[in-house]
Amino acid sequence: MRQVDVGLGARSYRVLIGEGLIDRAGEWLAPLARNAAITIVSEENVWTAQGKRLVDALARTGTACNPILVAPGEASKSWATLATVIDRLVELGTERQDHIVAFGGGVIGDLTGFAAAILNRGCNYVQIPTSLLAQVDSSVGGKTAINVPAGKNLVGAFHQPSLVLIDPLALATLPTRELRAGYAEVVKYGLIGDPAFFDWCEAHGHEVIAGDVAAQSHAIEASVGAKALIVAEDERETSGRRALLNLGHTFGHALEAETGFSDRLLHGEAVAIGMALAFHFSARRGLCSADDAARATAHLAAVGLPTQMRGIETTAGRLMAHMAKDKKKSGGRVSFILARAIGEAFVDAGVDLGDVETFLAEELG
Ligand SMILES: NC(=O)c1ccc[n+]([C@@H]2O[C@H](COP(=O)([O-])OP(=O)(O)OC[C@H]3O[C@@H](n4cnc5c(N)ncnc54)[C@H](O)[C@@H]3O)[C@@H](O)[C@H]2O)c1
Ligand SMILES: [Zn+2]
Repeated sequence: MRQVDVGLGARSYRVLIGEGLIDRAGEWLAPLARNAAITIVSEENVWTAQGKRLVDALARTGTACNPILVAPGEASKSWATLATVIDRLVELGTERQDHIVAFGGGVIGDLTGFAAAILNRGCNYVQIPTSLLAQVDSSVGGKTAINVPAGKNLVGAFHQPSLVLIDPLALATLPTRELRAGYAEVVKYGLIGDPAFFDWCEAHGHEVIAGDVAAQSHAIEASVGAKALIVAEDERETSGRRALLNLGHTFGHALEAETGFSDRLLHGEAVAIGMALAFHFSARRGLCSADDAARATAHLAAVGLPTQMRGIETTAGRLMAHMAKDKKKSGGRVSFILARAIGEAFVDAGVDLGDVETFLAEELG
C-alpha cells in the first residue's frame, strides 16, 4: 500500500492506494461508523459492479451500511438528486461529525462531497473512487459541485475529504472507453510538469488501458502524488498553480458543450483533444517546438484517444462563445494553459482571442 499526504494544515488527509483496499475498507471505515453503521452514497452501475466487495468488507468488521443509491450519469449532479441525497442523510440522522462515504466515479464524488459540504454546515466524507478519472483526479483536492442549466460545476464548494481510499482493482469492471478517457488525465500530469513521467506513459500507457494492475497502480500513484502537491500549494486556485490542471480543459469544455456533455464525447476524450490543441497552439506561437507538440499528440493517439476535432459539428465562432462563458475567465479574459515543452505548462492570461479563433478555424479545416 502506498500513502500520499495532502498537506493542508488542519484539513490535511491521507490518500491510500493499494490493490484490494476495498476488501479491507472496514479497517478504516469501522472506526468512523456511528452505532456500527456508515452511510455510502453510490450509483447503480458501481453498486452492481463493486458494491458487494464494500458491503462484505464492512460486514467483516461488524459494520452495517446504509446505501443511498442514485442513477448513474452526469444528470445526477443536479439540484433534484442533491435534495434526495440530503433528505435521506437527514432521515438517517447524519450529524456533523459523521463520515459519509462517496463510492463511485467523479459524479458520485462531486455530488456526495457537495452534500457533505452543506449538510449541517459541513460533515466529513471519505472518497472511495472507482473510475480511473476519479482515482487520479476528482477524488483528491476537495472540489465538489453540481451542474445547473447555466453551467457545469457552477454550484459547489471547496470541501476536502477526510480520507481517500483508492483500489486499482475497482477498474476491472470499468468500461474500456471510460478507462481510456480517464487515462487522458494521467497523461496530463506528465505534460504539465513531469517529462520523465510522460516517458513512462509512452512506454506503459497501453498497459494501463489493457488492464495491467501494476501499470495502473503506478499511474495512479504518480498522478495523485502530482495532484496532492499542486493542491497543497494552491488549494483554491488562486495563485495559478492549480490552474495548470486545466491543461486542455478550456478547449475541452467548449467541445463538451458543443456535444451536449453527452456520451458523444467523454470528458477525458475532450481533454485529449484539448491538450493536443494546446500544444499545437503553443507550437504555432513559437512557445514550444513542433516536435514536442507532435510527440504529445502522438502518444494520445497511440492509446486510442481522439486528438482532432474531426467529426464534431462545430465552428470556431461557436467554440469561442463557449470559452467566453467559461467560468475561469477573469476580467473579461480567458486564461489558456500553454506549454514551453513536454512537462512545462504555464498559465497564459494574455492570449489574443482572435489568434485562438483563427487557429481553431484552421484546425477545423
Ligand atoms: N472535483 C474535481 O476536481 C473533478 C475533476 C475532474 C472531473 N470531475 C467531475 O467528474 C465527473 C466525471 O467523472 P467520471 O468520469 O468518473 O464519471 P462517472 O462518475 O459518470 O463514471 C463514469 C462511468 O463509469 C461507471 N463506473 C464508474 N466506476 C465503475 C466501476 N468500477 N465499474 C463499472 N462501472 C463504473 C459509471 O457508472 C459511469 O457510467 C464529471 O462530473 C466531472 O465534472 C471533478
Ligand atoms: Zn478533467
